[in-house]
Amino acid sequence: MIEKAAEYIKSKISGEYRIGIILGSGLGSLGEKIENPHYVNYCDIPGFPVSTAPGHAGRFVFGTLNGKNVMCMQGRVHLYEGYPVESVVMPIRVMRLMGVKTLIVTNAAGGINESFNVGDIMLITDHINFTGRNCLMGKNDGNFGVRFPDMSFAYSPDLGEVALKCADELGMKLQKGVYIGCTGPSYETPAEIRAFRVMGADTVGMSTVQEVIAANHCGMKVLGFSLVSNKAAGLSGERLTEEEVLLIGKQKSAEMQNLIIKITGEL
Ligand code: HPA
Repeated sequence: MIEKAAEYIKSKISGEYRIGIILGSGLGSLGEKIENPHYVNYCDIPGFPVSTAPGHAGRFVFGTLNGKNVMCMQGRVHLYEGYPVESVVMPIRVMRLMGVKTLIVTNAAGGINESFNVGDIMLITDHINFTGRNCLMGKNDGNFGVRFPDMSFAYSPDLGEVALKCADELGMKLQKGVYIGCTGPSYETPAEIRAFRVMGADTVGMSTVQEVIAANHCGMKVLGFSLVSNKAAGLSGERLTEEEVLLIGKQKSAEMQNLIIKITGEL
């Protein structure tokens, strides 16, 4: 199924794509900055999962960003939509078959670290997979990677350095920290957030961890960013809403875009 999907895309798109980008909730507008864009809608790709989540366009954009060929996902699917974990990571494997070697992942996330403010961008240095699943369970496909992949450098330290340098040159402050991935769709309870803080998490969200496991499995280097769209449950005294998450994404997407555009030029 993965091969069929890649073959379909190759029949529509020519060129080599070594950089893949996944745009999270409310962050899809980077897709509009891609030059000479070609679109492939997920719903036209055989066997490809289509997102029902708000703020996700549901297509690949192929083109150039800062002089580099990129293959960009405007929208992704999540475990909370009811998709099996293999579907959540299918796009990563399709990207691999398209030649992607470097993956940039973005997400909107709740800020657990009390020194983080809404609107901050965090370089993800590591993650905690709290979804209770692992996309590599079941028979291993040795064409993609080994049975027991190492996750010691799941988020490439080298790419992290590039990101910090680019942020510095743009005069942007980047937070650094650990992302914890949950299934959702309910937001966390305040007690869960307190527990996650003790575990060492700085942001919390409902995506990313399975994609990053699959990307590491198939030998990609990963760079990840969380946009802090809200303070995590119990930290602000307010209720959490999806509208707030999408709004902050819109407001801060220009900054995230500038950073990713600059980084792409350095890859
Ligand atoms: N929790 C989980 N996922 C999220 C949050 C949150 O607070 N904000 C944005 N995505």
